[in-house]
Amino acid sequence: MKLFVYSYRDFDEGPFFEEYRKEYGVELGICREVPTLENAHLAGGCQYVSILTNPVDRALLQRYRDMGIKMISTRTVGYDHIDLASAKEFGVGVSNATYPSESVAEYTVMCILMALRRMKRILERAAINDFSLKGNMGGVLSGKTVGIVGAGRIGCQVARLLQGFGCRVLAYDLHPRADMEDLLTYVGFEELLCESQVVTLHMPIGEQNTHMIDAAALRKMPKGVVVVNTARGGLIDTKALIAALESGQVGAVAMDVIEGEFDMYYFDRKSDVIDKHDLFILRGFPNVFVTPHMAFYTDLSIRYMVKSSIESCVRDARGEENPWKVL
Ligand code: COI
Repeated sequence: MKLFVYSYRDFDEGPFFEEYRKEYGVELGICREVPTLENAHLAGGCQYVSILTNPVDRALLQRYRDMGIKMISTRTVGYDHIDLASAKEFGVGVSNATYPSESVAEYTVMCILMALRRMKRILERAAINDFSLKGNMGGVLSGKTVGIVGAGRIGCQVARLLQGFGCRVLAYDLHPRADMEDLLTYVGFEELLCESQVVTLHMPIGEQNTHMIDAAALRKMPKGVVVVNTARGGLIDTKALIAALESGQVGAVAMDVIEGEFDMYYFDRKSDVIDKHDLFILRGFPNVFVTPHMAFYTDLSIRYMVKSSIESCVRDARGEENPWKVL
């Protein structure tokens, strides 16, 4: 079986690709660039293509179909960057990857604590020898209500980690789990918004929930709410969030994701003029920090991203059950 890997990174993925290539007996082609129509030909002769978060649109899918690519495997949990409707129409399979939920869940708890304790400002001020206290007073997590929007694998792990902090945990999810009921209370979306002093998002994105945190949702939250997003930028209406920060309705924000990020993260763009106005406005607020979609980024995740992408293609090629199959 031949697998062509786009956006291949030697410095972190390389050793894992080498390990699992041998273990699964797969022939690999690699390219460090993102997949485009111009470099599609590089995957010629392969049946499978492995990608990261860069958009795979209709034209590219059509090209892959014409080249005989059977399936595109994204080495990510999310697959919102792939045009699924076109993939289905062209009969190109799609699969995703999984990795242990600890990486994102631990990062989320870190974000909650950093936002509550005004850590961005503390670090910035300390760096210029401003050791004064005024403006740095934080809040404790103990006794607060944290609302988890989307209690799947990651959301549930956040709930488990929060146990040690003595907070009340609410969750909104379409598929409540009986085994989580000791750790959290399932409520409706509206109740979660009204009750939670910290709201953290853990949902995949689709048409139905794009901008689910809009101006109306933000208005329902308690004044001074902390909003954390380590899921997908499009879950929040960014302009509404900016307005809510300006009015003081939202007290602090930690965001690892932002709308329109995929042409920016993970490239070195320090010498470019970047047209992301909302990002720069948000970054300018003292009570907001924005990280470049790093919550997943641990050695543990990278190992599993590579392993599950390769194994998914191998299983498909062997006609075995494929737990990562999306289409
Ligand atoms: C995912 O796996 O879906 C992520 O969010 C991480 C990815 C952007 C590399």
